Amino acid sequence: MTNKKGLKDAYSLKTPQDSIDLYRAWASTYDIDFAKKNGYQSPILIAKYFEKYSFIEDTPILDVGAGTGLIGECMKLSSEQEIDAIDISPEMLETAKSKQCYSKIIEADLTSKLAIEHNHYGAIVSAGTFTYGHIGPNALDELVRITKPNGLFIITIHSKLFKKDKFDKKFLEMENIISTPIYHEEKVYVSNEDETHGQDTVLIAKFRKK
Ligand SMILES: C[S@@+](CC[C@H](N)C(=O)[O-])C[C@H]1O[C@@H](n2cnc3c(N)ncnc32)[C@H](O)[C@@H]1O
Repeated sequence: MTNKKGLKDAYSLKTPQDSIDLYRAWASTYDIDFAKKNGYQSPILIAKYFEKYSFIEDTPILDVGAGTGLIGECMKLSSEQEIDAIDISPEMLETAKSKQCYSKIIEADLTSKLAIEHNHYGAIVSAGTFTYGHIGPNALDELVRITKPNGLFIITIHSKLFKKDKFDKKFLEMENIISTPIYHEEKVYVSNEDETHGQDTVLIAKFRKK
């Protein structure tokens, strides 16, 4: 018997409390046993596309479902930019905090109303969070609310859930408040031998609030 956590556990979550329980157990091994071992690319890709599409004014940045802070570590920010982390798991956030790349650490459930003012963030980034068992398209309403007009979104959406979980419909419903998204499809892992998910891809969606 092993207590090792992995994708199968993550993808079978059903509620925010399930996330709190799983990531409590996974936080201390996530970076090595999951991210490094599988060549997990999503945080690197988010940093790459942020660099491609962002302007210096797209700040402050919010890392949504920041986990252990892998995006924060990958981002090459100027001294005028800052990044905050938001996540439901205090243990994952504790690791993120220890990396000293985030200005603020926010513990919150992204499926609920957020205690953040309207039009606050200049950009939203997210990796591995719009996925099986985590958060769905409806969380975008609050994220758009807390983003400044013209604020940038660079987020991964698991490719297999784009239609299944109705992200496509959500983006159409939001067409008056966001620009038409541009998508880049990318492989999530360089070296994941999982038979079911090792070859998974994400859509990296880029859009701006109008
Ligand atoms: C697969 S991890 C991704 C972490 C990090 N972004 C990365 O790419 O390594 C998903 C994260 O989403 C968080 N999460 C899941 N459900 C959530 C919710 N309802 N509200 C806030 N965070 C949530 C988990 O705690 C976890 O840290």
